[in-house]
Amino acid sequence: MDDRTDRLVSRARSVIPGGAQTGLRAQAYELGDIAFEAAEGATLTTVAGESLTDYHLAFGPVLLGHGHEAVDAAAKAAIDSGVLYGAATTELEVEVAERLVDLLPSVELVNFCNSGSEATYHAIRLARAHTGNEKILKFEGCYHGWHDYVDVSVYPPPAELDERNRSTDAGPELDPYPESDGMLSAAVDSTVVVPFNDPDALRAAMERHGDDLAGVILEPVPHSVGCLRPTDPFLDALEAETDARDVPLVFDEVITGFRHSAHGMQAELDVTPDLTCVAKAMGNGYPVAAVGGRADLLAQAGGDHESGVVISGTYSGSPMGLAAARETLDIVEAEDVPERVGALGDRYREGLGDLLDDHGIEGRVVGYGSIFSVQFGVTGEPRDYGDVAGLDGDRFREFAAGMRERGHFFTPNPYKRHHLSLAHTDDHLAAYLDDADEVLAGLSA
Ligand SMILES: Cc1ncc(COP(=O)(O)O)c(C=O)c1O
Repeated sequence: MDDRTDRLVSRARSVIPGGAQTGLRAQAYELGDIAFEAAEGATLTTVAGESLTDYHLAFGPVLLGHGHEAVDAAAKAAIDSGVLYGAATTELEVEVAERLVDLLPSVELVNFCNSGSEATYHAIRLARAHTGNEKILKFEGCYHGWHDYVDVSVYPPPAELDERNRSTDAGPELDPYPESDGMLSAAVDSTVVVPFNDPDALRAAMERHGDDLAGVILEPVPHSVGCLRPTDPFLDALEAETDARDVPLVFDEVITGFRHSAHGMQAELDVTPDLTCVAKAMGNGYPVAAVGGRADLLAQAGGDHESGVVISGTYSGSPMGLAAARETLDIVEAEDVPERVGALGDRYREGLGDLLDDHGIEGRVVGYGSIFSVQFGVTGEPRDYGDVAGLDGDRFREFAAGMRERGHFFTPNPYKRHHLSLAHTDDHLAAYLDDADEVLAGLSA
């Protein structure tokens, strides 16, 4: 035990609910008290002076590694020129908007904001205004932020899954599960939930609610539950159903955007969404996000604040975030970052999968590109949340604790993922696999 850590965490608990800014961040305490004071490259330094290889990367944004010199220099230069203007526009804002229009195949107009939740909120308001409808269709296991419009059926309790899935008279539709106390029931009741990767369920729900639907939102690769890969029939049904009914299709690319491809997951999957939300890897850790999409949808927000759709935010388009984004996006594209870091991801997945086999441990390694998750007690390719919900969380926490003792940090939440960055190397890989070998060998039966 380290005195400084103890004192700091105890002070945190006395002035911050749970001692961390979010419940998910507080889960790190399941590995013992810990507090951070520096981050560089792929390494975190704790207040106890410990160095940990960072596989958490703040839930994903830090694609180029911590303290990337060029990105930080760009952000600092922007601050030196002026922190916030809050009227009309700036050249930087125009340049980054042009960049997103250029990079993301479906995007014609762009609005900036500061977080993924804001981006999905704006997207849904635009979709509701366009259709005049209120219902939103989402998929079980997809996370789109903390607001009432979407924080539904992300991690419904596994124990209630069967009962819940069958308690509705609406065929394969699922009962919406509010993820938080205090949510507006009207928002929850306006959410139609179907399983991911189930084209028949999607068609049935579209048939049933099509005239009342404002939009369909999904993570194109749901990483909120590790990794679900969308099947072609599912993607075909998504495009066909939303096109036929003029219901905006919203791609939440908050995790996938720029991490899996400089042109978004939409380019990889060859799907053209109507609205796209990006955040995280766009700014390498700086707070910057955007909603973009079809010109007629976004143009609804181009009014005079008294007509059309209100999109607002004092800090939207902050020069610091945008300067970081401009530099990050340049590097992502020029240095083939998704491909390079993704190839390292393949080596982690392969190595870790071999170790599970060697030790005869029931489990699987899932992932895509620079993201991977090890899930214990479940096997086979997961198609939907139901295939993930039975995983063995205790075993994962044991694994996370053993790895943390050996200098590798990731959140002990079994649904979450490891992220890699440009700063991770084959040496990190070798050390990770060596230590994972030892930890897996010692996992309780
Ligand atoms: C897919 C997805 N969408 C939206 C969000 C919300 O983003 P933020 O935490 O920046 O509000 C997240 C955050 O993890 C996410 O993973």
